[in-house]
Amino acid sequence: MKKKVLAAILAASMVALTACGAAAPAAPAAEAPAATEEAAPAEEAAPAEEAAPAEEASAEEAPAEEAAGGAIKVGFAQVGHESDWRTASTKSCQDVFSAENGYDLSFVDCDNDEAAQKEAVRSFIEQGVDYIIIDPIIATGWDTVLTECEDAGIPVIVIDRTIDDSDKYVSWVGSDFLTEGKAAGEWLKAYADAQGIKEINALIIQGTIGSSAQIGRTDGFNEVAKREGWTVLDQQTGDFTEAGGQEVMESFCKSYAGKFNVVVCENDNEAFGAMTAMDNAGVTYGPGNDVILISYDACTAGLKDVKAGKITADFECNPLAAPTVEGVIKQLEAGETPEKQILVPDNWYALKDQIVDFSVDGNAQKMIEVTDEVIEAQY
Ligand code: AHR
Repeated sequence: MKKKVLAAILAASMVALTACGAAAPAAPAAEAPAATEEAAPAEEAAPAEEAAPAEEASAEEAPAEEAAGGAIKVGFAQVGHESDWRTASTKSCQDVFSAENGYDLSFVDCDNDEAAQKEAVRSFIEQGVDYIIIDPIIATGWDTVLTECEDAGIPVIVIDRTIDDSDKYVSWVGSDFLTEGKAAGEWLKAYADAQGIKEINALIIQGTIGSSAQIGRTDGFNEVAKREGWTVLDQQTGDFTEAGGQEVMESFCKSYAGKFNVVVCENDNEAFGAMTAMDNAGVTYGPGNDVILISYDACTAGLKDVKAGKITADFECNPLAAPTVEGVIKQLEAGETPEKQILVPDNWYALKDQIVDFSVDGNAQKMIEVTDEVIEAQY
């Protein structure tokens, strides 16, 4: 698709979105970080471990339209490779935006480096891609670089985490993190009531601070905690990694020995690390044990730990948004205006005895019992 046509579609899309009030007002533009060696595009600075054929698709090796044989050129600035969830998200995008499907994908694993992510976006502008997909590591600091995309006439689609200080993107496709956090809290309230547990003393291992996944889950859970008068003893980031979860939990086990009965991990990989730390400290967890362990993501390995009676409840974050993103691109190719916000559905999981009735904001929630078939079908 030619740039001028894209620019016209993007401009029309912004006007339409503003007119229907879907777009949040943009906050003042944040400064883009200066280009430094650390901020080099991540394909040079931090090659992806799992996937990332970024070099194959880079500007140097496949710069021209003819090299891609008329394929739609897509640049994807991925957060990193910190979790099972992220691996599934990357694979989903690479499967959808494949050469067989008519795409020329430039994939950059940004290794959780905010500056590298901005530089990756700028490298896509230089390459002259047709569309840019961003999974923003953190929610703010985006307006300057999104303005550059807009000036270049390249539509941006945000996937998974949100951008909260700019509306210069066509669509966001992802999960409702605030609802995930509230669901964890409301489930805990109903479960504790059913078990006759009167006092909640919780520890939270947060995700990457400033990411919308962290903000939503922390705020959602804490909203219920505050309402119910629970004690949140501490909350610290484990950066969505297993090593981070273990390190924070080791410190929590020392500081709060014998004082906590709930641990909330903001993703499964943190929960895996937290379990190692609790094992080493002699703390038991899971249904009927010292600690109620709550997790998010519900990846295959997480659900296996629910089935094994280790994680008490797991609140899904669906990583398979790429097909929906492709739908947005197809709409743009057809000259249509996609929705500004597109939610992907999530499910909540537990073993049968831990399934309780609860609502979020007045909406009754349905939990799924974890069985071998459910695990088999999960991402
Ligand atoms: O943004 C989604 C979150 O990021 C997932 O919960 C987590 O596993 C990932 O690192």
